[in-house]
Amino acid sequence: MNRFAGGMAFLLVAAWCGTAAADAVSRGAYLIRAAGCIGCHTDAKGGGPALAGGRALKTPFGIFYSPNITPHPKMGIGAWSDANFLAALGHGIRPDGSNYFPVFPYPSYTAMQSEDALAIKAYLFAQAPVARRNKAHDVPPPFSWRWTIRVWKWLFFKPGPWRDQADQDARWNRGAYLVHALAHCGECHTARNFLGAMKSSRFLAGTVDGPEGDLVANITPHQQTGIGDWSAADIVQVMRDGTKPDYDNVQGSMEDAIRDGLAYLTDDDLNAIAQYLRTVPAIENRVQRQPE
Ligand code: HEC
Ligand code: HEC
Repeated sequence: MNRFAGGMAFLLVAAWCGTAAADAVSRGAYLIRAAGCIGCHTDAKGGGPALAGGRALKTPFGIFYSPNITPHPKMGIGAWSDANFLAALGHGIRPDGSNYFPVFPYPSYTAMQSEDALAIKAYLFAQAPVARRNKAHDVPPPFSWRWTIRVWKWLFFKPGPWRDQADQDARWNRGAYLVHALAHCGECHTARNFLGAMKSSRFLAGTVDGPEGDLVANITPHQQTGIGDWSAADIVQVMRDGTKPDYDNVQGSMEDAIRDGLAYLTDDDLNAIAQYLRTVPAIENRVQRQPE
């Protein structure tokens, strides 16, 4: 190859890589909404910059503060490799080898495909770095001891990507993937045991102990206590703008999940979620506060 042809080939490869990278960033912009990362990693109440962390997350074990996930080299994740990022989202493992607390919903994100996780990383790394120091969690021992998470994981954590089911169509599988892996509906809509792990036998059946003490609705297709009488269009509507079939609006953490994420999803993806939800096991559970 002469020098000119070599130069052209180099430029073509560089241009192709540039397009591929831009493509990953725009896919990441969509996926980061689907996965609800922005709301949790932004201290909106305190007027903090997007993705720079510091949002307080109240749990029965104490208050956790989300970290800065902008690409700041010291205060954010700017020095992270792809492998660091995949270990965090897929396995709950920190760059130093210790464990993340499952308040970071990696028990759901583990079901994410690596290419989706890396598109989210590409998006994050295309944002401006923000110099904002992480705030230490306000969690008393023994729940503050990271080594205890090893035992927790051994008991409750099932790592690995979501696998499509061959006997279901592409739309159902897309819906299942969104519900389990990205949109992590179960993290709020599933009751937890005394160690804070989701009870898989109660998947999406609602709870009175949701985030911030919210009552979280039963969204299984149970006729009397779930959303069995909602049409697919009703389910799509609530994710789009929070309006329920009775014209009431959802509140609390569901409102946040919609504003920072679900509202941005395509009709195809919202329809896929609705189709999948109508096929999960119907579980009887009336979510209401016990009279005092
Ligand atoms: C429910 C709130 C919540 C959601 C949703 C959430 N995170 Fe987090 N994330 C946290 C918390 C809390 C931690 C810190 C956990 C710890 O200290 O063990 C964390 C930790 C992290 C870390 C490690 C940062 C570091 O400095 O070690 C990364 C990276 C991260 N999250 C990325 C994401 C991405 C990407 C998404 C969306 C796919 C996401 N998070 C969604 C709450 C959340
Ligand atoms: C951050 C927590 C959180 C996440 C994540 C979440 N939800 Fe919700 N959701 C709630 C809460 C809380 C309510 C109850 C709101 C209310 O009563 O005003 C709710 C209500 C709903 C309702 C209304 C049900 C009814 O009977 O009123 C539907 C439908 C719903 N969610 C579907 C979903 C789906 C589907 C996903 C995943 C794509 C999801 N939610 C993810 C917290 C969450």
